[in-house]
Amino acid sequence: MKIRKLDKMESPPKELLLLADPSIEMIEDYLNRGETYICEENGQVVAVFVMLATRPGACEIVNIAVRESRQGMGIGRKLIEYSIYTARLKGVKTLEIGTGNSSIGQLALYQKCGFRITGVDRDYFLRHYKEDIFESGIQCKDMIRLSMAL
Ligand code: ACO
Repeated sequence: MKIRKLDKMESPPKELLLLADPSIEMIEDYLNRGETYICEENGQVVAVFVMLATRPGACEIVNIAVRESRQGMGIGRKLIEYSIYTARLKGVKTLEIGTGNSSIGQLALYQKCGFRITGVDRDYFLRHYKEDIFESGIQCKDMIRLSMAL
């Protein structure tokens, strides 16, 4: 397994990015502004994450996704560990991530990796997404914001 930064000339794995974010418009927007990292196994892209500098000293993981057939095998945790390592090398002091109130597994993963909940952006998904989103029988309405001091 190899994690590397995607070159600007290479095309990002949009089918993976769409697993984490149903809005192609949002994806296109942060792909242009952020840095994309991919994880490859035997030459195949199996996972991706996108890091965005949000303000001085702060970065956010705006998208993280693992190919469905490879989920639950520790790749997501490895990507987050790699993002922490990369952010530290850049001198970033605060790493942030956000996910929906209905994303139970993701909230578990992020807290296991050391992120703490810092706030709730109420109705974020109702304001920014045209389609209703449901996970685990829960409507995704609010963005749970988490952060980690590096
Ligand atoms: N309850 C408790 N713990 C859980 C749950 C759950 N429902 N789901 C995962 N975990 C834990 C695992 O037990 C594991 O803990 P451990 O290391 O102590 O055993 C830990 O989370 C890490 O699991 P991984 O196997 O590393 O996770 P995976 O490789 O599946 O990657 C990811 C996680 C990225 C969320 C992946 O499942 C995925 O791509 N999902 C679809 C896209 C998505 O939802 N992306 C995130 C959206 S938010 C955003 O992008 C900022």
